[in-house]
Amino acid sequence: MSTTVIVTGAHGQFAQQLITDQPAHVRLIAFNRAQLDITDAVQVQQCLQHHRPAWVINAAAYTAVDRAESETAAAFAVNAEAPGHLAQAAARIGARMLHLSTDYVFDGQSPRPYRPDDATAPINQYGHSKLAGERKVQAVLGSEALIVRTAWVYGTTGQNFLHTLLRLMRERDRISVVADQIGTPTATPTLSRFIWRAVEQGLGGLHHCTDAGVASWYDFAQAIYSLAQAQGLVQRAVSIVPISTAQYPTPARRPACALLDKSSLWEATGLIAPHWRDSLHAVLQAITAPPKAPV
Ligand SMILES: NC(=O)c1ccc[n+]([C@@H]2O[C@H](COP(=O)([O-])OP(=O)(O)OC[C@H]3O[C@@H](n4cnc5c(N)ncnc54)[C@H](OP(=O)(O)O)[C@@H]3O)[C@@H](O)[C@H]2O)c1
Repeated sequence: MSTTVIVTGAHGQFAQQLITDQPAHVRLIAFNRAQLDITDAVQVQQCLQHHRPAWVINAAAYTAVDRAESETAAAFAVNAEAPGHLAQAAARIGARMLHLSTDYVFDGQSPRPYRPDDATAPINQYGHSKLAGERKVQAVLGSEALIVRTAWVYGTTGQNFLHTLLRLMRERDRISVVADQIGTPTATPTLSRFIWRAVEQGLGGLHHCTDAGVASWYDFAQAIYSLAQAQGLVQRAVSIVPISTAQYPTPARRPACALLDKSSLWEATGLIAPHWRDSLHAVLQAITAPPKAPV
């Protein structure tokens, strides 16, 4: 028997990967923003009543971290209020809900990787809005809700650090990249594999999911450059220059070191995330691979 799953924010980079990887037993109904605006409580309610999914995966979000400092109300409408609408609609039909959140709920001052139950302390409006969203979902669904915090997400498509770097490496001889912010890049295929397994298992609670390993944005940029050169995506010499956060001021402050402890999700799912360098290699190979012939 198939399981009906609704995915919101279908044009986003993570949702696109979820759609690509959907298991055979899942009947996936994916809505982009034009088809389902999650800030519209009535529309959300009607949609879930009509399709009666077993799961709702909220992959929609306001992800413009710097713009969220000035467009705070818009960020809270999508990241805080709307997950609450989804949770209420899910509760009315007895559906489970998976909600994505972020390492930016932490201040980045911890000497060790953050565990899911560590104290939160966002330092920017995006982080505040995402934390408020987690709380709205938990208030309605409790530990039945599956909340997964991730970080530094990139995939074969979408607007992300990888694609920005690939573009800049074609345009510039020198790229300055912040070297004193530490985290873990996370490829959408890793996230998607864990999420589909967790859905299949009916997992609930608060968990962390990133690739394995540690990197600065500078390390990530260096790895992109060397792997992209090796795969023929970049054919010119580019100098990647490490700079400090102070040399690259942005409207939103970022956590200095937001590593996430992923052990609860690894134990619950029986899966282990690959090292971020291996995931990057695989994503770059997927970008360079010739398109598959239609069957
Ligand atoms: N990207 C990261 O580095 C990162 C890091 C940590 C956590 N996360 C979390 O991971 C999740 C997935 O992020 P992502 O990187 O896949 O984001 P993304 O590529 O920016 O996709 C988000 C999608 O949400 C859609 N959306 C925005 N407002 C909406 C609304 N009112 N109704 C319906 N859809 C709406 C957007 O639509 P449009 O295409 O029309 O704009 C976009 O397609 C999010 O919860 C995000 O907070 C991401």
